Amino acid sequence: MAPRTILYTGKGGVGKTSVAAATARRCAAAGLRTLVMSTDPAHSLSDSMGTELSGAPTPLGAKLAGQEVHAQEEMERHWQAVSGWLGELLAEQGVDPISVEELTVPPGMNELFSLLQIKQHHESGEFDVVVVDCAPTGETLRLLSFPEVCTWWLEKVFPWQSRWLAAARPFARNVLDVPLPEDGVLEDVERLVHNLVAMNAILRDPALTSVRLVMTPDRMVVREAMRTFTYLNLYGYLTDAVVVNRIFPEAMGDPYFCEWREAQRDQMESVRSAFAPVPILTAPYLPREVMGEEMLDTLGDAVFGDLAADALLHSGLTQELSVTDGRATLRLLLPFAERGDVELKKVGLEVIVKVAGHKRTIILPPAMAAYETSGARFKDGALEVSFVRASDGATAEHTP
Ligand SMILES: Nc1ncnc2c1ncn2[C@@H]1O[C@H](COP(=O)(O)OP(=O)(O)OP(=O)(O)O)[C@@H](O)[C@H]1O
Ligand SMILES: [Mg+2]
Repeated sequence: MAPRTILYTGKGGVGKTSVAAATARRCAAAGLRTLVMSTDPAHSLSDSMGTELSGAPTPLGAKLAGQEVHAQEEMERHWQAVSGWLGELLAEQGVDPISVEELTVPPGMNELFSLLQIKQHHESGEFDVVVVDCAPTGETLRLLSFPEVCTWWLEKVFPWQSRWLAAARPFARNVLDVPLPEDGVLEDVERLVHNLVAMNAILRDPALTSVRLVMTPDRMVVREAMRTFTYLNLYGYLTDAVVVNRIFPEAMGDPYFCEWREAQRDQMESVRSAFAPVPILTAPYLPREVMGEEMLDTLGDAVFGDLAADALLHSGLTQELSVTDGRATLRLLLPFAERGDVELKKVGLEVIVKVAGHKRTIILPPAMAAYETSGARFKDGALEVSFVRASDGATAEHTP
């Protein structure tokens, strides 16, 4: 059976690695064959787990293994012919070898190659659960639409390109003065694209994969998590839980922290308004750094309580956005509200919906800046908010 895959992502330093490691330990303790793997090029999984990990799954116990994927190795495996050709091409143009090496590795692609490991683990059948410690959100997000671009290229451009190349190769050398890619290069690209598309299908299948957003209760962190949540929904990735980490405990008497606690309480409100009905898991600011088995298990207990760490904690996307001809519809899952007065407000990219005493805040993608709200209605347990493109194209503020 294909393994259940859980991706942890979030802003830098919020606790992704710690929560991923804690999740994996809990899954293994429950008897599931578990792999925790880091695709963040700046690995810290070894430090967190207190064991040296390598590029291949390293056994850490009867049911647990850990892996820090080496992007460079993955890249060489999948991209070798392509970078060989590009390198040759650039060297002929007089680019020095060191820059050639950097130029033939497309920026931002490191993690993409690392994520291909997920596909391998799906095929191997070695694990029941694969927990992935991803790079900070900015990096990971850039990858989401990539396979779509790839597919387009493969279907539309590739057949022509390869035919054209086959015809041009015999004389291109003399005329163009650049080496044309050999068949091996094209085969590499084609195989890579197929792999990326297959991997994407796994990541986007809610029966196989879910994302968990890790954050701390700090305004900037929560805002970024909200933006990520919008993109995840937009691209069809299921978020089945959010984890709010490092909450100052109430018992902390120090007046110095009173203000902090109050600010965190406000942020918890924002979290609820942004992510409901996705379950919100929490963990306190622990007295020590989360390193080693004991601290990881303490964190795991705090985050999951009685829940199974591998459980699918929520199903279904919570927002859907469709845009056609200057009109857009945002569909929001509002299980708590059937009907009632709806209050809508859009300020810049932020839409605030108030209904039946509940508040929802959604951050729209930048392309929606020029739209203004034009109405809302309930349909099939969801609230559909309509937008029209403002005629002057200006950012609109509107309360119907
Ligand atoms: N609940 C907690 N209480 C106290 N310390 C914590 C808690 N969670 C994480 N930490 C500590 O915070 C630091 C950052 O955690 P971690 O490395 O898990 O974050 P990250 O999101 O993976 O960071 P990066 O973006 O750098 O990969 C670590 O030193 C970790 O031990
Ligand atoms: Mg980390």
